[in-house]
Amino acid sequence: MKNFEFYNPVRILFGKGSISQINKHLPSRVPVLLMYGGGSIKKNGVYDQVLQTLKNTEYYEYPGVQPNPVYEQLMPALDLIREKKIGFILAVGGGSVIDGAKFVAAAACYTGSDPWEILSKQVRVENALPIGAVLTLPATGSEMNGNSVITRASLKHKLSFGTSKVMPEFSVLDPEVTYSLPKNQIANGVIDAFIHVLEQYLTYPSNAEIQDRFAESILLVLKDTGSKVYADPEPNYDDRANFMWAATNALNTSISMGVISDWSTHTIGHELTALYGLDHAVSLAIVLPGVMHFLRVKRQEKLAQFGEHIWGITSHDPQVAIAETIKYTEQFFRCLGVKTKLSEYGIGPEAIDKVVKQLSSHGATVLGGAGDVTIDDVPAILGTRI
Ligand code: NZQ
Ligand code: ZN
Repeated sequence: MKNFEFYNPVRILFGKGSISQINKHLPSRVPVLLMYGGGSIKKNGVYDQVLQTLKNTEYYEYPGVQPNPVYEQLMPALDLIREKKIGFILAVGGGSVIDGAKFVAAAACYTGSDPWEILSKQVRVENALPIGAVLTLPATGSEMNGNSVITRASLKHKLSFGTSKVMPEFSVLDPEVTYSLPKNQIANGVIDAFIHVLEQYLTYPSNAEIQDRFAESILLVLKDTGSKVYADPEPNYDDRANFMWAATNALNTSISMGVISDWSTHTIGHELTALYGLDHAVSLAIVLPGVMHFLRVKRQEKLAQFGEHIWGITSHDPQVAIAETIKYTEQFFRCLGVKTKLSEYGIGPEAIDKVVKQLSSHGATVLGGAGDVTIDDVPAILGTRI
């Protein structure tokens, strides 16, 4: 196992009715900025619950954060923050709203010329406004990590930054708020979280037994309970609770400690989203089978372990087992209603060159942290995904 430093200061308020606890965790006498998305929280009662807990707090609203949050839409929040002397941001929504709040929190304290440099030049974040979150879509893990992914629409660039300075002080996880999720967003959440685990687990053996067994337990819950949540005609509280907690644990840094992580599937997927507007999880479901196939020899050991422990696949010939493993994984995504080939979204082979150009335009040559995928490998990876 590699050396590591583990730090996760996010307080989790989990369970039914937890939104009512928010006021106990807000700083006193500080104006709060309430950020949310396109209005789902007004339809499912979450907005009313949040307002109830804010009834003795001075707050201002910043709605309209888009899926795959957009720099151009977020920047005007900085004027409101200055004008109203905002001291705390409360993000209510899915990963996009939470990521948007993280960017705004860092941008509000940025002393350089343009906060986009936090993403484009990876300028270190020295300070950020404190934030809290109410998660409405189990998927990204943003509620318990320091990552944020922002798109600059005018450039078609989707970039990320990560720092403990933007980790939420608290996150509320009430499984009941997920009852209003449309089926495709449940599928997106299961797939995104599943692939988060794989980006940290499906690389090379690190003799990290706790991390491996923990990763596998999250994968099994997502495979079994995630599929059930997707298929159930009526929501079941405990299934939603298990799905929600699985998605949070998939990307709250615990399973990445001391192991070799990858993230090349995400790096390529972000370009597909930036170019074609594909949902984040959809882009991953397309790319991952290509990455697995491309690395079927180099990563043989972990691929075979994944196949055996998650799908029950064994064979005397590891390459036969791995081919089956890739097939089962892709089939899992398809059973969740997500298509896994570019052509099924009307995208042709020209996408390959475009993705390569995009990656090269922001200097991404080695993709992911495992050191075995470079920009030159993208045609081979995406070539199998047409
Ligand atoms: O905008 P509203 O009206 O709220 O509707 C949203 C949105 O349309 C809707 N929704 C959310 N909760 C709902 C609901 N609808 C009904 N009931 C509810 N309870 O769902 C739609 C999608 O929401 P979004 O926040 O965009 O989805 P998700 O949570 O999947 O976030 C995706 C973004 O997170 C980034 C992705 O790249 C993408 O930009 N990621 C962030 C990560 C992180 N911070 O660690 C890691 C991930 O790998 C990912 O890259
Ligand atoms: Zn993701």
